[in-house]
Amino acid sequence: MVALGTPFQILTYSLLFLPALLLTTYFLSAFPNTPEPIPILPGLGSLSPSSSVRTLYPEDFFKGGNYFNAPNGKTRYFLLGPETGKKIVLINGLSIPSIIWQNVSASLVTRGYRVLLYDLYGRGYSDIPQTKYDRNLYVTQLALLMQHVNWDRAILAGVSMGGSIASAFTASFPDLVEDRVIIIASTGLILTSDLSRTTKIMSLPLVQALTSSFIARKFLQHLTDSSNQTAPADSMQEIVRLQSAHLPGFNAAISSSLRAGPIRGEFSSFSSDVWSGRKLLIIHGTNDHTVPYKYAAMIQSALPKGCQSEIVTIEGGPHDLTIR
Ligand SMILES: *[C@@H]1O[C@H](CO)[C@@H](O)[C@H](O)[C@H]1NC(C)=O
Ligand SMILES: *[C@@H]1O[C@H](CO)[C@@H](O)[C@H](O)[C@H]1NC(C)=O
Repeated sequence: MVALGTPFQILTYSLLFLPALLLTTYFLSAFPNTPEPIPILPGLGSLSPSSSVRTLYPEDFFKGGNYFNAPNGKTRYFLLGPETGKKIVLINGLSIPSIIWQNVSASLVTRGYRVLLYDLYGRGYSDIPQTKYDRNLYVTQLALLMQHVNWDRAILAGVSMGGSIASAFTASFPDLVEDRVIIIASTGLILTSDLSRTTKIMSLPLVQALTSSFIARKFLQHLTDSSNQTAPADSMQEIVRLQSAHLPGFNAAISSSLRAGPIRGEFSSFSSDVWSGRKLLIIHGTNDHTVPYKYAAMIQSALPKGCQSEIVTIEGGPHDLTIR
């Protein structure tokens, strides 16, 4: 028969638990290490000005270039067109920096617009913070940039992932956005099952660790340096390949964007009430193999009733609609 309860036994049992109790208290009260700032890698500005990627996309590719510093790193931006013109922000996509807007921005300037272009973190001449490339990173980058250039409100236009950044930004900061937004071949609602297997495998952290290694980058550099480019679309792809081969941190930024960025799961941005009374132009090509055409209709049906939306179908149009 087990007799619990004599004062002696109670003391013995409490002594048994004491070490565990002390240890738990210790771990609960132990404080984390001193916080460290996130590491920030430099963008294309750190490569030699004669490198092939900087020849294709020089630092002063557009006039009115400047840098702006924020907690997540520097942003390269350009202000073009008449100062009194109607303000529009152009947002690039997953892997090609703002050069993707070369000809669109030129025709906007001709039409009297004041154009703000910038490289998303992780691409082009903007810094590459080693952090999660989620909607908050992108939305805050633009909000801080608009604050820096003193813009209260602007029209937004985004291509590919830039389209869903524009939508997420509108949902987060409706007061900073005019009554119209243009999204071109926009991501945001892509189903995981529609992401190619290559995309999924290449964005695995382990694969990233391997491909961003010194040897893998040397190999990529060898491949890219010996290839030739001709058509405009090719030189854009060349810029992607060269960033991937020469820019430390670029591949990790892309894969983090694919996994955590506003590529999927942006239903709440598109269905937000902020769209009521706004116009959303959805431009999409029927021959888009990156973001299939069906997503134009899916985005449109996510919008609230009060939104004036229109799908502009580009028959036979590919994904990179702004490159011409
Ligand atoms: C690149 O183009 C040049 C001239 O057009 C040609 O001589 C060379 O063989 C090409 N290189 C490759 C790798 O295709
Ligand atoms: C813009 O147009 C020029 C001339 O047609 C072309 O060479 C260039 O590649 C185009 N750029 C883009 C980004 O489409």
